[in-house]
Amino acid sequence: MPHTKSHTTLQVSASGALGPLTPEEALLFEKLDLGRLPRHVAVIMDGNGRWAQQRHLPRVAGHRSGTKTARSTIETCARLKIEALTLYAFSVENWRRPKAEIDFLMQLLREYLRKEMPLLQKNNIRMRFLGRTDELPKGVQDDVRDAMERTAENKGMVLCVALNYGGRAEIVDAINGILSEQNGNAGRFAITEETLAQHMYTSGLPDPDLLIRTSGEMRVSNFLLWQIAYAEIFVTETLWPEFSRARLLEALVEYQKRERRYGGIREGQTDTAAAARVVGE
Ligand code: FPP
Repeated sequence: MPHTKSHTTLQVSASGALGPLTPEEALLFEKLDLGRLPRHVAVIMDGNGRWAQQRHLPRVAGHRSGTKTARSTIETCARLKIEALTLYAFSVENWRRPKAEIDFLMQLLREYLRKEMPLLQKNNIRMRFLGRTDELPKGVQDDVRDAMERTAENKGMVLCVALNYGGRAEIVDAINGILSEQNGNAGRFAITEETLAQHMYTSGLPDPDLLIRTSGEMRVSNFLLWQIAYAEIFVTETLWPEFSRARLLEALVEYQKRERRYGGIREGQTDTAAAARVVGE
């Protein structure tokens, strides 16, 4: 059948884009419907500290190992042609950590941006940073600006790194942005969901369809509060440094099993006759 044939060709060429697959990855990949992938995947990369602790290593070793997972996740999503990937790298609350750990994380990010630039370019990835980046150390700000400028013309996946990010801070910033635009405007104005969305750090991007959180905590942790209104949430016990490509494919397969109703009801489930009986017809 021509339909089956073209579907098979698509599967084969896409799995080729991922490079050689392990038997486990191949099995998961076969279950994926490439026509129904999430447009935007957001990730709370949690568990670096615990991963290190389990190995009697300093916490920072967990963060370093976590960058390898970030690399494979970024590359896999880009090759699957997912439109946007957002990684939660540093929250506004993370300033409460010991200074040495904060300094290490900032250095790691700078190193990452320098070292991974060829990979980002090769995969046609455009970088954005979500958060109050103007409060970051000067060197980090320079590297962030440089990474955005160098990838600005890329047309593939948008990679957002949430840095000094807080969901509540973002909403406050969006409202202040709207108010400053309205300055001097004597007329009355109303804020709509659209205006607010346009002033979020993520303006122009689709809302995440899938939110992944590693290491088992059942929390949203002030991440993309506005944008995840209808996201499917996938929580795995796997610690971030161990979140391999197979685990990512597993999350995507799981996402495709979910039925997204956006507050409506399942297709074909209207029962007008029963409803009429209930209201006493
Ligand atoms: C959470 O683990 C992780 C972070 C706060 C930092 C995430 C940063 C990276 C993975 C590295 C850099 C990222 C990029 C995008 C290059 P945790 O320390 O809270 O772990 P724990 O809950 O086990 O203590």
